[in-house]
Amino acid sequence: MKTVKENILILGIESSCDETSASISKGNKILANIIANQTVHAKYGGVVPELASRAHQKHIIPVVQQALNEAKVDKNDLDAVAFTRGPGLLGSLLVGISFAKTFAQALNLPIIEVNHMHAHAISACIQENEKSKVPSFPFLCLTVSGGHTQILKVSSHTELQILGQTTDDAAGEAFDKVAKLMGLPYPGGPEIDKLAKQGNEVAFTFPHPNVGEYDYSFSGFKTSFLNFIRKEKQKNPAFIEENKADLCASVQHNIIQILLKKLVMAIDDTEITQIAIAGGVSANSGLRKAMQELAAEKNLDLFIPALEYCTDNAAMIAITGFYKYLDDDFSQLDVTPMARYPVVQ
Ligand code: KG4
Ligand code: ZN
Repeated sequence: MKTVKENILILGIESSCDETSASISKGNKILANIIANQTVHAKYGGVVPELASRAHQKHIIPVVQQALNEAKVDKNDLDAVAFTRGPGLLGSLLVGISFAKTFAQALNLPIIEVNHMHAHAISACIQENEKSKVPSFPFLCLTVSGGHTQILKVSSHTELQILGQTTDDAAGEAFDKVAKLMGLPYPGGPEIDKLAKQGNEVAFTFPHPNVGEYDYSFSGFKTSFLNFIRKEKQKNPAFIEENKADLCASVQHNIIQILLKKLVMAIDDTEITQIAIAGGVSANSGLRKAMQELAAEKNLDLFIPALEYCTDNAAMIAITGFYKYLDDDFSQLDVTPMARYPVVQ
């Protein structure tokens, strides 16, 4: 085992949903982060689990090979293999875990299981270059993805506490479902983001949920949006087409307002000034702008990962694996994937 932690080389594997990704980290820096997107799902309007597993099988070896090549790392120099244990699609997770176990066993390397939501939060701790700043502890992380919406208090690289989370749909799911109702392609989040740039964000208003303390709910918004466009389409069948940009801007604005309201409450109550956002929805340009405005207003230190570390990626798995490695927190070979896997046990 290496004694200089800055030199520790980890191979990270991510395969929880529809991105096959491999990354090589050296200490808390990333040498390579290769992501193979699966385009096969677009025509079905959502991820088809069986097709996702097959695509992972096709992509996993070339993606790992490319990561090693780009990082200029020989596989024999690796120190450990970290992989996503869950949450995610069982068949997809199985491909990544099986690969990680086999590869590690062949090279006599330890394996490290990583919780995907833990990794999203730790993506803020990737040291992108010598000058880039990382959050100090404790920091609050708003993790907003296609499957989760959480406010986490991160006390160390390996200690997290859920302050609040969605009671039904995730924020990304709300973007995707509303986009589908408007006939936009999957995934809808980036499409809404693009169209919202030309629209008026207060053209239409939607109700805000009324759920406990720092929790979220997005299913009511989706229903109210559905009822609203049904009614408008009865009056004017071309309503969506004629108001697409305004609808997208208003939907995006509403989701951002809902997200920020609870985050601001958590910031005020905990008095924590180190704030990160993570997960696919943190790629949203409106949310990034709103977070920057909030940080300026409240004098917060804001950490927004680079776009490639916002959506699903193996860099966050490798980095989280690195910190677990420092804790000697290794997994046994009989470890199995977990479709449901709470970030705090
Ligand atoms: O973290 P992620 O890549 O996968 C999960 O773990 O779920 O998040 C995917 C989600 C999708 O719902 C997608 O629509 C959303 O992130 N997303 C966006 C944007 N880019 C991705 N939502 C809004 N605006 C974006 N620019
Ligand atoms: Zn994710």
